[in-house]
Amino acid sequence: MPPERTTPPSISELAQRRLSRRTALAGGLATAAASFFAAAPKASARAEGLLGFPAIPPSSADEVVLPPGYRYQVLFPWGQPIVPSGPAFAEDASNSASDQARQAGDHHDGMWFFPFTGGGGGRAGLLCVNHEATTEQLLHPDGRAAWTPEKTAKSQAAHGVSVIEVKRDRLGGGWHLAESKFARRITMTTPAEITGPAAGHPWLRTSADPEGVRVLGTLNNCASGPTPWRTYLTCEETINKYFYHGEQPPQPGSPEDRYGIGSEAPYPWYTTESRFDMRAEPNEYNRFGWVVEIDPFDPESTPKKRTALGRMEHENAVVVRGRSGEAVVYMGDDTQFDYFYKFVGAEPIDQARAEGRSPLDEGTLYVARFEADGSGRWLPLVHGEPGLTAADGFAGQAEVLIHTRLAADAVGATPMDRPEWCTVQPGTGAVFFTCTNNTARTESVDAANPRLNNRYGHILKIDEGGEPAAGRFDWDIFLLAGDQASGATVPADQAFGSPDGLWFDAAGRLWIQTDGTQPLVDGAAQNNQMLAADPETGEIRRFLVGPRRCEITGITSTPDGRSLFVNIQHPGDSGTPDNPRASSNWPDFHPAGRPRSATIVVTRADGGVVGGR
Ligand code: FEO
Ligand code: CA
Ligand code: CA
Ligand code: CA
Repeated sequence: MPPERTTPPSISELAQRRLSRRTALAGGLATAAASFFAAAPKASARAEGLLGFPAIPPSSADEVVLPPGYRYQVLFPWGQPIVPSGPAFAEDASNSASDQARQAGDHHDGMWFFPFTGGGGGRAGLLCVNHEATTEQLLHPDGRAAWTPEKTAKSQAAHGVSVIEVKRDRLGGGWHLAESKFARRITMTTPAEITGPAAGHPWLRTSADPEGVRVLGTLNNCASGPTPWRTYLTCEETINKYFYHGEQPPQPGSPEDRYGIGSEAPYPWYTTESRFDMRAEPNEYNRFGWVVEIDPFDPESTPKKRTALGRMEHENAVVVRGRSGEAVVYMGDDTQFDYFYKFVGAEPIDQARAEGRSPLDEGTLYVARFEADGSGRWLPLVHGEPGLTAADGFAGQAEVLIHTRLAADAVGATPMDRPEWCTVQPGTGAVFFTCTNNTARTESVDAANPRLNNRYGHILKIDEGGEPAAGRFDWDIFLLAGDQASGATVPADQAFGSPDGLWFDAAGRLWIQTDGTQPLVDGAAQNNQMLAADPETGEIRRFLVGPRRCEITGITSTPDGRSLFVNIQHPGDSGTPDNPRASSNWPDFHPAGRPRSATIVVTRADGGVVGGR
């Protein structure tokens, strides 16, 4: 590992790095890239590169398309019972709310595979799957018409998390769900606990919970992350869609305004349940927007909202160990001009756990500032620091955390082009993260967000010199997505847009998943997709294209890399009750059915490592 930098790199050094980067991406010049990624492991042993599959062309078909020699299986579509004996899915969406609470939710997003220990780790384990949102027009037979408490209940039951036990009976065979004592659904009605510095704060108290420590449910579970102690973090994202403020939107500049509350709540839950009506319960929305920890191996466990990690539109949460053994968690806030964050735990993970404390309840939250010279700083969000005093509206650390965004505004963080997922490179510890797009950037650019009207997004890389708890970093742009006309650094035939999901597999392949507008390739439209990049050679290849109107999000694999789980979110989401198959009928292609979000498993016909040689 390189030592932590004490002096910033020179401008010419940074310019040389960027040039190397661009050259590598455009032309695959392995030598230039190898010098840029000098810290990457096994540089000389990988002359052939990490990508062992041919790039596939773009597709606009209503199907999952893969390279030759690959196949997929639909494992866990919306409505599938979480155990085989559960209530069967009804293709006409007539399942009740009570059925839905024992079936896969909608809009599969982040997930993680926890292999069982003690052998068979590649063949059985628990799969935790987020259900971010719903397509209400397809969730009920008559869609959003004549809203009822039962519709609120079904919608809430289709949000949250599934924990399922999955196995394959033999290597090379198909995967299936097991009858399992671990199988459970966590929904908007599952009791959860609020922990950490903000627990019990008056802003978290409601009429149903005067103590501010207990809340029903978890909401808009976007992406996720495993912890080193084998729990699952599920991250609450776009919570503003669920809370009704009244006909008048919040005052501009108010905390509610800063957290995206408007004059409408797209989800009509508030019409049947007063906790979603801010006129009746102004604090309920403060109880969402957190990272929530779930122990999948204890089906009786209560989900814990970890307030030390801040409140925002969370995307994923990547946990690594700092050099002193503490938990370090990287997180993006996915809103235009919002920020990239890091939490550093106060004590070693093992010490906290041995003494019955959570490694995620005490520590310091930081927000990133990117300088034009390629250096960066982690700015602590600590009560009492300049801008974060009582006179600034932060009476204590709880206020700093509940209003994380306002605190980050106050300390001078760098507004980014919608930070979504992040991932840590094996061997180097470098942190890569996506900025998915920002079409509202119309006035000025900066070095870390270098394009006006950033329609297609980019991927950044942070180098902390091998110390995740470092206060400084160097950064660079890994790639600019889009087409050549937009200034992309990706070859024209691999053009993609709106990078969102991002994950390094164990071999160091960087998987990139897209959600949003895709550039034309040779004049042809393409659906959302997943690509793999070799960060050392700069090569990038399209690996998977999804069905129509889906986004690709969520990725995890078995430890042997031979089964890759991927989520297909909201295919055919333009469907209506009259015409549910308007844009897609994936994956069932049932003549009277409807499209379904689903977890698929990608394998190679020859049983090899997915993506490898
Ligand atoms: Fe849930 Fe920003 O994606
Ligand atoms: Ca989504
Ligand atoms: Ca996302
Ligand atoms: Ca997105």
